[in-house]
Amino acid sequence: SATQRNATGAGGCPFHAASEPSMAPNGCPVSPQAAAFDPFGRPYQLDPAEALRWSREQEPVFYSPRLGYWVVSRYDDIKAIFRDNLTFSPSIALEKITPASDEALAVLKRYDYGMNRTLVNEDEPAHMARRRELLEAFTPEALEAHAPMVRRLVREKLDAIIDRGRADLVAEMFWEVPLTVALHFLGVPEEDMEQLRRFSVAHTLNTWGRPSPEQQVEVAEGVGKFWQYSGEVLRKMQARSEGHGWMYDMIEKNRHKPDVVTDNYLHSMMMAIIVAAHETTALATANAFRQLLSRPVVWADLCDNPALIPAAAEECLRHSGSVVAWRRIATREVSLDGVIIPEGGKILMVTASGNHDPAHFENPDELDIYRDNAVDHLTFGYGSHQCMGKNLGRMEMRIFLEEFTRRLPHLELEEQEFTFLPNTSFRGPEALWVRWDPAQNPERRDPAVRDAQRDFPVGAPSRQDIAREMVVAKVHTAAEGVLQIALEDPHGRRVPEWSPGSHVDLIVGDYVRKYSLCGEVEDPYWLQIAVLREEAGRGGSAWIHEHLKPGMPLRLRGPKNHFHLDETADRHVLIAGGIGITPIIAMADRLKRLGKPFELHYAGRSRSSMAFVERLERDHGEALHLYRKEEGERLDLAGLLAEPRAGTLLYACGPERLLAALEAGTNHWPEGSLRMEHFTAEGALLDPEHEHAFEVELTDSELTVEVAADRTLLQALRAAGLDVPSDCEEGLCGSCQVEVVEGEIDHRDKVLTAAERAGQDRLMSCCSRAKGKKLVLAL
Ligand code: HEM
Ligand code: FES
Repeated sequence: SATQRNATGAGGCPFHAASEPSMAPNGCPVSPQAAAFDPFGRPYQLDPAEALRWSREQEPVFYSPRLGYWVVSRYDDIKAIFRDNLTFSPSIALEKITPASDEALAVLKRYDYGMNRTLVNEDEPAHMARRRELLEAFTPEALEAHAPMVRRLVREKLDAIIDRGRADLVAEMFWEVPLTVALHFLGVPEEDMEQLRRFSVAHTLNTWGRPSPEQQVEVAEGVGKFWQYSGEVLRKMQARSEGHGWMYDMIEKNRHKPDVVTDNYLHSMMMAIIVAAHETTALATANAFRQLLSRPVVWADLCDNPALIPAAAEECLRHSGSVVAWRRIATREVSLDGVIIPEGGKILMVTASGNHDPAHFENPDELDIYRDNAVDHLTFGYGSHQCMGKNLGRMEMRIFLEEFTRRLPHLELEEQEFTFLPNTSFRGPEALWVRWDPAQNPERRDPAVRDAQRDFPVGAPSRQDIAREMVVAKVHTAAEGVLQIALEDPHGRRVPEWSPGSHVDLIVGDYVRKYSLCGEVEDPYWLQIAVLREEAGRGGSAWIHEHLKPGMPLRLRGPKNHFHLDETADRHVLIAGGIGITPIIAMADRLKRLGKPFELHYAGRSRSSMAFVERLERDHGEALHLYRKEEGERLDLAGLLAEPRAGTLLYACGPERLLAALEAGTNHWPEGSLRMEHFTAEGALLDPEHEHAFEVELTDSELTVEVAADRTLLQALRAAGLDVPSDCEEGLCGSCQVEVVEGEIDHRDKVLTAAERAGQDRLMSCCSRAKGKKLVLAL
């Protein structure tokens, strides 16, 4: 395993055996699997994440003799490389992975081909100076202005096939629309689009593939022509006094800051950006449609609930991205996961593998459109070079999905053998055959369907929209003031799996509130919650008590678990106060089934106000200790906590007073012994009157962002284009955590332990702030 390997010393290899048949440049032998790794072979082409499973599990950094690259497969390692672009230079990002033949070079020379560095492969400080100059075209407002153009292009293509009943979507539109969008985005005059479209082929093969000698010459012809023609178009655009599009921004900057945005850069960019914006998006869209249509249940969810489209597109980018690997070169000798990569070592980061790393994504091989950290995927890269066009790519994917789910919900994937252009980095099917029955097209019955479009805001998906539609199956009174509610799928399908400690966020109008699941974990058709009527609350629970009836639709997010039961502990003490019993029941059930020793302490006002008492007595009689205040019974916390017990974990849920007392009473227990579930987080809500503005410096993206007094840090980061995942947005769940390099933190969350807070090295960006004027974040 990796740890064993690491334990063998800084070199990461114990042997240094000169007689090894195959050796890496660091003098270590190459393992048989590493020697066999072939990025042009079928397994990697079919499923790169699966092809590198062995590496993620056993040898996360290895040398591939066939490729001459160091291959990196784990999420954290890849992110660490993206983070540090001084040690890991992007200069080779667009280098031909198969060196050009002399014949091909001669052809390129004939065309005066002079493609140079652009943005994606430029080193600092030149890169950031340029990037900063060119960001304006990517603000949400600027991108919003392109949405009608994207919509029009998608519609024209869909209109053309809608009565046909069968189509290859790649050939009909996925290839062409993103290219045309890119040309519009750049501001290329309409009359030149056709020519550029014709030349814009074969870059993938040229840069990341293994072209044959004949193909090399053919591709070089295309590339040479493209170079010449893009030069002509550029000169034409330069001659105009004004125009709209990103290319005009660049021309403008080139006039005023020719040392930052140079002449050659302009010409190179014209060509490079078409590649960057085109194939990435075309293949990502094809992958997304393939994945979603091959899961009819998920496709049906999207058709029923189009608000899920942005989340689904994002999850497809994670699960089956169009960029599956990206490159860097080590500028000095460096140790990664215990393996020494020499100076000049070329690195292939298999981002598709990182996106399936179970250390970062729960249940990573499943396509789960309700996943809340999908935006953490590496398909857009990360850090200061992260894809500038990500929000344009997202917009295109979403519009494609929105038009198809609305106008062709009965679309089906045809049985077919998918083929891929063999290459290391770009991936998507070459054709995608679908069929449908035109007689069933909804717009034949209701023409309004054609134009009933729905738009999505620019940027990462909003968690507000990630909601499941459910139906109330059963309602009954579980105790005084406590309603037990069973929810089921509106189509009678199985409900999602969940684990003890999970909750759902119930959405009732503007009211969102988390409720722990309290039914049987194995029940495949019901999710059950218990709702206490709170007169002092915001009115949501009262509404539920008064109005909820069987058959009513209800929206929720989840299930998700921020209160995981660690089953490896020797012993568990479960403590519940009042309605806090809900997450505890499933834990008790689970521990009983595992045959693990546990105690269950349950305190409440009176027997009639305490939910589930009979069920607990029946199932957990031995372990159960009941404390009824009205009977004069008291949970003696001091006694319970007096002796810290090694190997024992405490799980507690209940009123804040109880949780605070537990926290204070377990100071002498080993760090991490107490796990609590909070239901609300007073203090996490922003009161601008009492806040001050501060500044955050972001080391990975090399940006400085202002956080105004009336904005959360999370909001400010998002406005600056960073995709920070979030879930609860009130300091309860831990999803929005960011690393802090410097500065004093004003912690407002309920996630971090006292020791973690004292470390001053992380914070929850949805609620916590700076004590002073500035924080430095590793983002
Ligand atoms: C960079 C992927 C769409 C413009 C990148 C990088 C990746 C990527 C992996 C390198 C990131 C790094 O080194 O950290 C994708 C994917 C797309 C997409 C998967 C679609 C789904 C677009 C679009 C544009 C675009 C539509 C259009 C304008 C750029 C630019 C860079 C870049 C300018 C260079 C940024 C820099 O180095 O500072 N993209 N891209 N991309 N992409 Fe995209
Ligand atoms: Fe849940 Fe910030 S989003 S803690």
